[in-house]
Amino acid sequence: MNIREITPQIFYVGVNDRTTVRFESLWPLPAGVSYNSYIVKDKKTALIDTVELGEAYALFGHLDDLLGDTPVDYLVVNHMEPDHSGSIPLLAARYPQMKIVGNRQTVAMIGGFYHIDDPDRFIIVADGDTLPLGDRTLRFLLTPMVHWPETMMTFEESSSTLFTGDAFGTFGALNGGVVDFETDIELYLSEAYRYYSNIVGKYGKFVVRAMNKVLPLAPKYICPTHGPVWHEHIDRIAAIYDQLANYRSDAGVTIVYGSMYGNTEAVAEALASALAARGEKHIRLFNAGKDEMSFIISEAFRYDGLIVGSPTYSMTLFPPVDTFMKAMKTREVSGKTLGLFSSFTWSAAAGKELAAYAEQMNLPVAAALEMKQSMNDDTAKAIEDFADAFILALRKSREQK
Ligand code: FEO
Repeated sequence: MNIREITPQIFYVGVNDRTTVRFESLWPLPAGVSYNSYIVKDKKTALIDTVELGEAYALFGHLDDLLGDTPVDYLVVNHMEPDHSGSIPLLAARYPQMKIVGNRQTVAMIGGFYHIDDPDRFIIVADGDTLPLGDRTLRFLLTPMVHWPETMMTFEESSSTLFTGDAFGTFGALNGGVVDFETDIELYLSEAYRYYSNIVGKYGKFVVRAMNKVLPLAPKYICPTHGPVWHEHIDRIAAIYDQLANYRSDAGVTIVYGSMYGNTEAVAEALASALAARGEKHIRLFNAGKDEMSFIISEAFRYDGLIVGSPTYSMTLFPPVDTFMKAMKTREVSGKTLGLFSSFTWSAAAGKELAAYAEQMNLPVAAALEMKQSMNDDTAKAIEDFADAFILALRKSREQK
């Protein structure tokens, strides 16, 4: 049972999901995921967010153990994505007197998703509104697009506890410890990059706006809907979110390629060797046809050098490479030093398609090469020239940071 008193009168009552294979049916969960709910227990009792429907009865078990026959008076809905809202209908039936607290968009979505539309069930809040529970008071802060339009955060003022929804969340089920000092946080910090880039990555400017709004409150506890509660290491998780939301990169090169029979892959390997020979140490190669897109996106998002290669396939990009480039474009990735390489057998198309993506993303191409059929002496020379140009541009961009 992961019930934990985080600070007096505020309890973790969330659940772990070690069964779901892919979050949103897309993103792999090798270390599981937690859906975090919290209880603020005072004269009135408030539950902050619910859990995915399949885990509803685990949440109810936690509520029974913690509250006994005491009912939940308020359900605060910070975010409506079903990994957090899925248990609302069952919870509403369990506690018929419970008021559901959300903003106008939240309430509209609850009607749309769960067909709960009796106005007496809702307390509609606006930015800055408060809800007294007794000694504790909840303040609601609208933070749209982190990660849906209705998202808000809830601040408990006397304990400086901030309930942040997806913001500051990570993949990874909790392994006993709930608050950061109770657990090995390195797993979660690593998964924070993948979680952010996969799930929230498109909404960087909204994340920046939200952080500027809530971090000046100097929260002592940050309680997200996924991953550990942040207390002693708020600076570390905030720094990761600040870096990624502002599209700042760590030093390193991600090489993403597709290859049907190994010829384009040979160029990727040769490029990696040429970059290593020029002193670049953090280089990661990904075969887009085999490796999980989730991890590729995470690395590409995090590091400042990006090289993408594709064979021509049915007169366009190799499909997994196209998927990757579309993911980068969707997330409005910027500030990368970009290199492109392509190959063809009888008619070249992949190079033009990659260049078109670069143009749409306003990313200048620091180096490019195109190969016909397989490596030869000309290709080997082109790879050395590519590496020279790419390293020059990469180091220049690092000096400017
Ligand atoms: Fe964890 Fe956007 O839901």
